[in-house]
Amino acid sequence: MAPAPAFRSSNFLVRATLLRDRVPSFREYPFDIPAIRDFEALDFEQPVTFFVGENGSGKSTLVEAIAAGMGLNPEGGSRHFNFSTRASHSPLKDYLRLARALRRARDSYFLRAESYFNVATQIEKLDEEPALTPPIINAYGGRSLHEQSHGESFFALFLNRLRGPGFYVFDEPEAALSPSRQLAFLSRLHELVQGGSQFIIATHSPILMAYPQAAIYLLDDGAPSLVPYRETEHYRVTRQFLTRTGQMLDILLNE
Ligand SMILES: Nc1ncnc2c1ncn2[C@@H]1O[C@H](COP(=O)(O)OP(=O)(O)O)[C@@H](O)[C@H]1O
Ligand SMILES: [Mg+2]
Repeated sequence: MAPAPAFRSSNFLVRATLLRDRVPSFREYPFDIPAIRDFEALDFEQPVTFFVGENGSGKSTLVEAIAAGMGLNPEGGSRHFNFSTRASHSPLKDYLRLARALRRARDSYFLRAESYFNVATQIEKLDEEPALTPPIINAYGGRSLHEQSHGESFFALFLNRLRGPGFYVFDEPEAALSPSRQLAFLSRLHELVQGGSQFIIATHSPILMAYPQAAIYLLDDGAPSLVPYRETEHYRVTRQFLTRTGQMLDILLNE
């Protein structure tokens, strides 16, 4: 047998394995989600990994478990955030073995669009308490995240707060971003990747997932599998719609 190729990735997280023999039941959430039910292991060989798939396919469940397993607050924020506004998180993280590099991430952040509001509130609360350190909001561009639009504040986070080299997990970051901001997101993503950062991103955006040094895992029936960018439904449907808008609308609205 040929020797395994030398591992060239400089990722912080290199592999996630589901400890299947410890799973109590594959008929209960989160193990009943098809992508988790058939999950064995995933390798993270690229600096950017995307999870794509239908609504309800398990993207959030998986990225949350990865973030939590890597020591991040499952509700979002950095390593220092440990507030909780939601009662329960899925127990998936307790059944994932995460193989990490020896190199430690200097920075890390979990961003979930769904609970970004709570992170903003938490920053305000922490900054109201007396502290010897500069206000946290300075790292986000200085303006309360509640006084910026969702897109503006997310962008402030992305430009100012994330410095790398870090381990970053985002759940649908495009939710707040205009198409031009999504393009700008790609530029900043690239800068951070070149500085040695790793990203794990659940997304529906055909713009974001075009990032060339990325692995795209599709969550569908069966274990997550790699798909080439141009074979994703996101790319094909968007392209078809934009190149044949009239015909597609005709079909959608008149048939
Ligand atoms: N706390 C929960 N209890 C039971 N089922 C859940 C819970 N959270 C999510 N689910 C279900 O798990 C599936 C995957 O959800 P999720 O990971 O949020 O999907 P995605 O992010 O891909 O849209 C969905 O069918 C959802 O209804
Ligand atoms: Mg989701």
